[in-house]
Amino acid sequence: MCGIVGYIGDKSVVDILIDGLHQLEYRGYDSAGIAVKCEDKINIYKAEGKLENLSCVLTTHKSEYQKATMGIGHIRWATHGAPTVVNAHPHTCNCGNLVIVHNGIIENFKELRAQLELKGAKFKTQTDTEVVAHLIAYKYADTKDLTKAVQLATKEIEGAYALCIMHNEEKDKMVATKRNAPLLVGIGEGEFYVASDVPAIIKHTKKAMYLNDNEIVTLTKEKMVLINSNGEELQQKIETLPWEPVALSKMGYKHFMLKEIHEQPDVIRNILVGKIHTSEEPIILNEVKLTKEKLKELNRIQIIACGTSLHAAMIGKYIIENFCSIAVDVEPSSEYIYRKNVTDSHTLVIGVSQSGETADTLTAIKQAKAKGSHILIITNRPDSAMAREADSLVPVSAGIEVSVAATKSYVAQLVSFYLLALYMAEIKESLDESLIKSLKSDLTQIPQKIEQILSHKERILECAKKYSNTKDFIYVARGINYPTALEGALKLKEISYINATGYPAGELKHGPIAMLDESMPVLSILMKGSVYEKLLSNSEEAKARNARMIALTNSKDEKLKDLFEFILEVPDVQELLSPIIAIVPLQLIAYYIAEYLGKDVDQPRNLAKSVTVE
Ligand code: M6R
Repeated sequence: MCGIVGYIGDKSVVDILIDGLHQLEYRGYDSAGIAVKCEDKINIYKAEGKLENLSCVLTTHKSEYQKATMGIGHIRWATHGAPTVVNAHPHTCNCGNLVIVHNGIIENFKELRAQLELKGAKFKTQTDTEVVAHLIAYKYADTKDLTKAVQLATKEIEGAYALCIMHNEEKDKMVATKRNAPLLVGIGEGEFYVASDVPAIIKHTKKAMYLNDNEIVTLTKEKMVLINSNGEELQQKIETLPWEPVALSKMGYKHFMLKEIHEQPDVIRNILVGKIHTSEEPIILNEVKLTKEKLKELNRIQIIACGTSLHAAMIGKYIIENFCSIAVDVEPSSEYIYRKNVTDSHTLVIGVSQSGETADTLTAIKQAKAKGSHILIITNRPDSAMAREADSLVPVSAGIEVSVAATKSYVAQLVSFYLLALYMAEIKESLDESLIKSLKSDLTQIPQKIEQILSHKERILECAKKYSNTKDFIYVARGINYPTALEGALKLKEISYINATGYPAGELKHGPIAMLDESMPVLSILMKGSVYEKLLSNSEEAKARNARMIALTNSKDEKLKDLFEFILEVPDVQELLSPIIAIVPLQLIAYYIAEYLGKDVDQPRNLAKSVTVE
């Protein structure tokens, strides 16, 4: 996580850095800092907490940095050391001449720190980054060449990093490098930008170069030189970014999360355009590059993802197995990467990620690729590191998601899974034709149904207020909506900090039922279909333990009124498509509870939108 920016050119640097950091706030917001070259020294400004705190600090120092045209900046998600001013980046060496910003984790920082202390390095912070500052400074003392110093130092570093570095004695020079963390250079007229991600530079330039691992770029106002870790000059791969600058606006909504929930109907419509023409015609999914023959032969799929994307993956498993009769395993990426797994060239591996940068998923994908698997990536960021590893790239096209709590990207991932599963089912002829037709037709009706939910939010708000004083919250479901229960619970806990858990309802009696009493809300996701009656019985069991029963249902059964103290109705939908409908009220319940409790909805504590550390 963390976001880094850099600028060298003729423009006033501080505004560029602050705006760039603002665009990268999704990567962390524990603290922020910048270093700018002023006359004969480098000044550092830092603040704990949100970026606005740094902006306040800067207002009192304007006269010092007004003329500065070169600098680096950082927005932090703390890994090593508390989110204090001292631990905020940029970090320096003993004499303060070298400044550095870092995204990633230096795994051998303890060993390096011990070695550097023996040489006289005085450490001021608890961060892993500070060792890199001292290490490069020592190499610089020997070489008097910042690029060479970075080249030598990075050979001794283990772990993940994107670094941007300046040295007071190298008047107009900036050096940047990366390994297993994203970094790109934006190219302007007589100026360069460095950033962890496109939004930080796109309003200045569309011309850019992504750095590959272990490449080192040296920037002056006039030119950019790219070398590999052996110091050999490389050809620059400059590309035009397929992005338009977008003004990230809440469009009148109080929070990005609420705006993004409301965007879901249009997101789904956009995804379906060009993929489903009529229910009679086959699905078009040219993004899948596996040949029809290979698809027909396929008998194993692994899906790897984290967080909300993992919940989408679990629903993906359900529908692929149901529609295509192919065995699917779903695994959190963070587990996949640390065990022996039997991925091989006959396995299709699907990586799901909103950001396309999640370190655990990226590592898992690389491992699977090394074993020869076809890699299919479902992501909202077709320009991401994961997208670059893909053999088949299925973009979910949800548009930029700002709120840390994923909503529209989740629904977009679900729709992509439906398209993929139906596409494969048509090729494999594994599903009844009339069912395929009805699924295609009903899929196109989903946006209107979500609009119905969104235009009658009062009842959801009432529900949220009624249960907002709870400390714990249980969501239960069975079958295809079990992952919906997990996702509903994740939404609530991440933005309201209420201890919410999702269970398969049949598991309640195997332990969790012990927690039930008159203070515990239990929300049953009771969609009509194969497990309706079973879930009703499980809800009875919970009610018998005095739990505060809530139903989210598309059933009009009058009997429900005796069992549930609060009923939220959703539009009717066939069971196999119900997760796309059922999640929307749960997103809104989480939103309204968090808002009612006065929590920071878009930037909840301790989280970051893009988790680029393992
Ligand atoms: O970008 P990714 O989809 O790979 O991110 C995975 C998780 O970090 C992410 O879904 C996280 O759980 C969200 N905060 C959920 O709202």
